[in-house]
Amino acid sequence: MHYLVAAVAAISGILFGFDEGIIAGAASALKREFVLTPFLEGLMTAAVPLGAVVGAAVSGRLTGTYGRRRILIPVALLFILGSALAAVADSVWMLVGARTLMGIAVGISSMAAPLYIAETAPKNLRGRLVSTFQLAITVGILVAYLVNLMLAEDDDWRLMFALGIIPAVLLLAGLSRLPESPRWLAQQGRWDDAARAAMRLGGGRSAEGNAEAQVAAIRAALAAEPVGESLATLFRRPMRATVIVAMCLFLLQQLSGINAVIYYAPQIFRATGFASEATELMATVGIGAINVAMTVVAMWLVERLGRRRLLMVGFVGTAVSLAGLVLATVLGGGGPWSLIALGLFIAAFAVSLGPLPYVLMSEIFPLGMRGAGMSLASISNWGFNFMVVFSFPILLAAIGLAGVFSIFAAMCCIGLIFAWRQVPETRGISLEHIERHLRSGAPLSRLRPED
Ligand code: BGC
Repeated sequence: MHYLVAAVAAISGILFGFDEGIIAGAASALKREFVLTPFLEGLMTAAVPLGAVVGAAVSGRLTGTYGRRRILIPVALLFILGSALAAVADSVWMLVGARTLMGIAVGISSMAAPLYIAETAPKNLRGRLVSTFQLAITVGILVAYLVNLMLAEDDDWRLMFALGIIPAVLLLAGLSRLPESPRWLAQQGRWDDAARAAMRLGGGRSAEGNAEAQVAAIRAALAAEPVGESLATLFRRPMRATVIVAMCLFLLQQLSGINAVIYYAPQIFRATGFASEATELMATVGIGAINVAMTVVAMWLVERLGRRRLLMVGFVGTAVSLAGLVLATVLGGGGPWSLIALGLFIAAFAVSLGPLPYVLMSEIFPLGMRGAGMSLASISNWGFNFMVVFSFPILLAAIGLAGVFSIFAAMCCIGLIFAWRQVPETRGISLEHIERHLRSGAPLSRLRPED
């Protein structure tokens, strides 16, 4: 059952990736139909990350009040509404509005879906199952690139947007059959429902023992939570370090420059000397495919190498490949070298920096603070996503490709030091044990395996 939960919840990841990737192909068709000033074009592209910041900001409260599963139902409806409005839009402003709605849905679900998956997963599979969400994002991006490639000739941007309705309907249908998170139910005092949900999830058994033992562990963790905890607790020791780790993981993920590549790949290929639009789009699809394939490898490695080591491997890989890209650009090696460097960059990102912030943010907060903490992490995710996407063309014009990618490479070096010093290993440790550790007042970075 937890595989089914992960698969259904991850459909929102497909929508996340699809809405991110589709604009790359739709933009040129839209330019032919509407008068698009650079400002309007930027606004249309950035409407999704901007809406997502709003969605991320309200996601903690919503998942706390309505539940992790139930909140995904209006989110699916919002995806359908946004896609439909974008498909029938008769003005740029209507498109901006529709994409903002999609963005709000993306923002809520990029916090709610990993949270739902983490809270329903057995501890030995949690990293792998939460990584399903990242896998779905990469599949969504790849599908968007392929749709772009297929529909580019007809300039059919309406169909491009309308296709987003399909996964949203699947999400809606799938959710109706799933149990709620036992941890959320327990938090509401609904102990019988929590026990039933745990039974359904584990088929009566789970890695933590049987469902009853799991509910007992949740009960003990909740009993140890201080009453009347407020948001301010997150900004005091020892929780402050946890918030900083979660927010910095997304800051570093975004400042690695991933979305400069995801949103602007064809343009980057042009700048490095690719000959035609067709080869640019094909190379872009290649990037999308590497992204998917290496995320599958990550799902395997995350439970073997662990989170911390995999993160360090990823930062080394992204820093080195970005340095290679800078060199290829400066030395004028042109197309093939930059294609190899970009391919390696995506591979290093996908195997590590892609899934791990989602995995870690859903693990390191105590239940009572999880919603608010993950909401802050998601604001960081979308705020920096917006910053990179919005500023990339401006920076490119000002300091050139080598300059911008040098900044990204430097950020990956900082990321390596950060992972080494601050990020704990959470592999195979139950959420309740992590909570006990934090409640003891010890810093997150000193977390050790359960005895
Ligand atoms: C990031 C997205 C990015 C995607 C690329 C995700 O982990 O949050 O911003 O576009 O990975 O695969």
